[in-house]
Amino acid sequence: MSSSAAMAGGGTRAAKTMHENVEVHADNSALAEAVAGQIITQAWGAIAARARFSIGLSGGSTPRGLFEMLAQKPYAARLDWSKVHVFWGDERCVPPDDPDSNYGMAREALLKHVPLPDDNVHRVPGELPPAEAAAQYEQMLRRFFDEQKPRFDLLLQGMGDDGHTASLFPHTKALRERKRWVIPNYVPRLDAWRITLTVTAINAARSVIFMVSGPGKAQALHDVLEGPHQPETLPSQFVAPPNGQVTWMVDEAAASLLRRH
Ligand code: 6PG
Repeated sequence: MSSSAAMAGGGTRAAKTMHENVEVHADNSALAEAVAGQIITQAWGAIAARARFSIGLSGGSTPRGLFEMLAQKPYAARLDWSKVHVFWGDERCVPPDDPDSNYGMAREALLKHVPLPDDNVHRVPGELPPAEAAAQYEQMLRRFFDEQKPRFDLLLQGMGDDGHTASLFPHTKALRERKRWVIPNYVPRLDAWRITLTVTAINAARSVIFMVSGPGKAQALHDVLEGPHQPETLPSQFVAPPNGQVTWMVDEAAASLLRRH
């Protein structure tokens, strides 16, 4: 069991499934506390080793409570924010002040409350046309990672009720991209364009934490972790960094259909 699970104390257990690293937490609040603990722990390790911590945030609604927690005591004071670099795993094609912006949500819930230098915030320019936004964000990543692999210290990933992650939606073009790190992806289900890290970029990470909460995700979580391997239908199954770790941090409601061992 990871240190955050131990730190989180009661109500936490490791569910043994196809994936070894699954932590089940009592509820959304306990889950947010455990993920916050993991982020702090992994940030300290990265800063000690490389004098910086690069984290890619997920969007959607699940991480809001986590971001608000990280912005408050005791968590906010536990990080040397001057050494933290914040990125996004995906973004909607909207301006930064749009209610749908993943950057906008993170700014309101976390970024404006902590002493993070502006230069350390690397947002996707969602206000630009999709192809331009993706190209600019990829250039930014290549500069930051010196053209090597985008070896994020940590990618925080959400999972949709259809098994998507980032903006890698089932049976969309983005799933097949293996050279580029960032591409625009038209999502028929949403009738909208998104900018997303590719499978190649996500799988270059040192660490990936999936944060999954709520009963609405139970079927998809079961299918992704315990069902047949069909990543075109369940894109979260593509996430398997050859030189990195994946930890699924979920709450009881999302884990309700997982086999208990
Ligand atoms: C986004 C996210 C997306 C999200 C899942 C889960 O831009 O929406 O990055 O991948 O993590 O859709 O969203 P919820 O947390 O809102 O269920």
